[in-house]
Amino acid sequence: MKQPIAPLLQALQAYAHSDAVPMHMPGHKRNTQFADYLSVLGAGFDITEIHGFDDLHQPEGILLDSMNKAAALWNSRKAFYLINGSTCGILAGIRAAAGQGSSVILTRGCHKSVYHAIELCDLTPHYLAPALDETFGIMGSITPSQVEQAIAECPHAKLLILTSPTYEGVLSDLPRICELAHKAGIPVLVDEAHGAHLGLAEGWPQGAVDAGADLVVQSLHKTLPSLTQTALMHVNGSLISADAVARQLGIFETSSPSYLLLSSIDGCVEYLLHNGTQAFVQWREYLTIFSESVKNLQHLKILFYGQDSLTQHPTFFAHDPSKLVISCRGTSITGPELMQQLRQGYGIELEMASGDYVIAMTGLGDTMQNLAALSHALCAIDKTLQSQPQKQLNPPSLPIPQRICSVDTALRSSTVCTPLEQCIGSISAEYVWAYPPGIPLLVPGEQIDQACLDTCLRLMQQGISLRSTSGSLPDSLLTLSPESVVAQNAMFLK
Ligand SMILES: Cc1ncc(COP(=O)(O)O)c(C=O)c1O
Repeated sequence: MKQPIAPLLQALQAYAHSDAVPMHMPGHKRNTQFADYLSVLGAGFDITEIHGFDDLHQPEGILLDSMNKAAALWNSRKAFYLINGSTCGILAGIRAAAGQGSSVILTRGCHKSVYHAIELCDLTPHYLAPALDETFGIMGSITPSQVEQAIAECPHAKLLILTSPTYEGVLSDLPRICELAHKAGIPVLVDEAHGAHLGLAEGWPQGAVDAGADLVVQSLHKTLPSLTQTALMHVNGSLISADAVARQLGIFETSSPSYLLLSSIDGCVEYLLHNGTQAFVQWREYLTIFSESVKNLQHLKILFYGQDSLTQHPTFFAHDPSKLVISCRGTSITGPELMQQLRQGYGIELEMASGDYVIAMTGLGDTMQNLAALSHALCAIDKTLQSQPQKQLNPPSLPIPQRICSVDTALRSSTVCTPLEQCIGSISAEYVWAYPPGIPLLVPGEQIDQACLDTCLRLMQQGISLRSTSGSLPDSLLTLSPESVVAQNAMFLK
C-alpha cells in the first residue's frame, strides 16, 4: 500500500543526504562504510536530538506536530511518544498519578512494570483478583462490581490500574469501570500495551481512550507496524496533569532518543491516517477466513474462533480478535509441546506457550499466507491428538498471597535461601514470574502459602520456566531471615 513519506523520515533522509559534518553523537557518525553491520541496521538515519529535529522532552516542532497527530488519531487530549516501550510509560504514569507512599487499586494480573512502579514509589497495593476462565484456565475480566467493592474498601486510592486487553486478549468493561472510578475521584490508568490497534476502525473493540481512561499506555510495536520499543502514552480528562507526566518521562526515558524509533512511530501514525481503514478491514477479513478454516478442529480449541464463542466464557466481558489463544487442555499434548511441533514441523514461531495453551499474535502487518499456514498446521496437528481427561482443575481465581511488608522493606531485609518445598509460611524476598507474560506469582514481602507453592510447582511440571529475581528457582527461594521476620512481626503488632 502506498502512503506519503512521514515528515520525520523525510527530514532524516534530507539530513542523511546533506553535506552536514556530523560532529555530534552517535559515534558511528552515520558512516555506513565503516562496518557492514552499520549499513545493514540503517545507521545512516540514526541520529539523536540535533538542530532541526526538536526535543523529545520539550517538543516544540516536528515531534510536537507528530504527537498531536497521534492524539487526534486516538482522540486523546495529549499523546507522548515513548521509545523505552510501554514500560517507561507505566512507570512515569503511575508516579505522576500516585506520587510517593500512597495506595493504588490494581488487578493482580498487571505486568511487572506496574509492580516495579509500586516498588519505586513505595505504594500500597489493593489487589483485584481476576476470575479464571474454566475452559481455558486464563484470567478473565475485572468486573465493575469488583472495582466498586475495592473503591469502598480503599476510598483513598490515588489510582486504579488495569490491564485491558490482557496478554490473552481479554477485555474489561472499561466505560463502566471508568465511570465508577471517576465518581469516586480516582483516575484510571489502562495498560493497553496489547491494544494499540483498538478503537481505530469499525469491527474492532472499543479502545481505552474512548472508554474514558485518564492515562492509556500502548505498545505500538506489539500489534501495529512500528519498531520494537515504540509506544504511546495518552493523557485524557482533567484528573491527571500532562506536565506531571512529562516530568516523570524525563526521569524514566532516555535523554538520547533514537530517531529511528521516533520516525517509526511517526511513520506508523502517518500510515494509520492514510491507509488504516483499509488495512484494518483486511486484517479482520483474514481473521474471519482463519476462523472458518479451524471450525472442524476436534481437540484443539481457539478462543472465540471456530466453534468457540463468548457464551462459553462467562468471566470475559469481551475479547480482542487479534489474539489467537489455542488451548490444548484435555488433549495428549501440552502448550510447550504444541509450540515445539509448530516450530519444528511447520516453521511457525509463536508468541508464548503456557501449561495447556499457546498464544499466536496477529498484527496489522500480517498476511493471509501467515494465517493460512497456521490454520493448516493446527488442523494437521489436531488430527494426531487424542482426548485425555484433565488432570488438574484451576482455582476459581488467581491466588494472591498475603502481603506482610512492602517490597522495599523485604528487599532491604536480611535473607536466607529456603528450599522450595520448605517455603510455606516464609516471607518472600524476591519476585517469581513466568516470562512471558511477566505477571508475578509472588511479590517480595508476601507470605508463601500452599496455593502459591502449588501454582509454581504445577507450572514448572508443565514445562514453564519460572524466574525469580535471584535466579534460585527451581530449587529454592530467597526468603526473609528469622530475625527479619521477628522485626516484621514486631512492626505488625505496633
Ligand atoms: C501487559 C503488558 N504491559 C506492559 C508491557 C511492557 O511493554 P513494553 O515491552 O512495550 O515495554 C508488556 C510486555 O510484554 C505487557 O505484556
